[in-house]
Amino acid sequence: SKKITTSSLMKMKQEGKKITALTAYDYPSAAMLDRAGIDVILVGDSVGMAVQGWDTTLPVTMDEMIYHTKLVTRACTRSMVVGDMPFMSYQSSLDKAVENAGRFLKEAGATAVKLEGGAAVCPAISAMVNSGIPVQAHIGLTPQSVHQMGGFKVQRDEERLLKDAREVEAAGAFSVVLEGIPSSIAKKITQALTIPTIGIGAGPSCDGQILVFHDMLGINDGFIPKFVKKYVDIAALAAQGLNEYIKEVQEGSFPSQAHEYK
Ligand code: KIV
Ligand code: NA
Repeated sequence: SKKITTSSLMKMKQEGKKITALTAYDYPSAAMLDRAGIDVILVGDSVGMAVQGWDTTLPVTMDEMIYHTKLVTRACTRSMVVGDMPFMSYQSSLDKAVENAGRFLKEAGATAVKLEGGAAVCPAISAMVNSGIPVQAHIGLTPQSVHQMGGFKVQRDEERLLKDAREVEAAGAFSVVLEGIPSSIAKKITQALTIPTIGIGAGPSCDGQILVFHDMLGINDGFIPKFVKKYVDIAALAAQGLNEYIKEVQEGSFPSQAHEYK
């Protein structure tokens, strides 16, 4: 089937078809998502928390993001791959922002990039779009600003959120992620914009939904935010298999004849 593009996402919004998105950081997970028919795969800087073991996304580097994005694009035949711009890769100057955004397309084979922020990052969005780089915006609870927000907190300033949404659309973003905002505000934003909104902790009215792969499959145990639904408990299934392996090796029943060379 044909590769999803920014225009297919726009068409889906116009036709009222929900957009499905998930994160992936490596080849096998991306292959599963592509095969399952997920529309958009975000190589999120959430890799810092889901895979690297940090408690924020701030330490993730450009080189790490390029590495993970390469692993993901190699697996994708239909899903659109979006590379997430890490903290301090687009904030300090427009030149640096465009250069770093370009690496996701040029070196890693991504179709688009995502960055966090509203009105404040519109010059960076425009500069990227003017260079031929599709940009997804991300407003509301923006994890790279965790210290400024005083924690991972739901954002409720309706006037500011609507203004940020309108401005990133005007700056040329092809889509916007709405994270950690009340459903009623996400609904208003979704109705006010032409570009598709992708929600995470933003209720059912968004044009699409995204979750972190490791959260929705229950790969990491520990804290899970209210907005996550755990569709499978992989950690529990893995523990079962691991315990069985340990037991069988210890008692000598693995390997059995079926697994040995004669
Ligand atoms: O890094 C990430 O996974 C994200 C999504 C949760 C939107 O930014
Ligand atoms: Na992110």
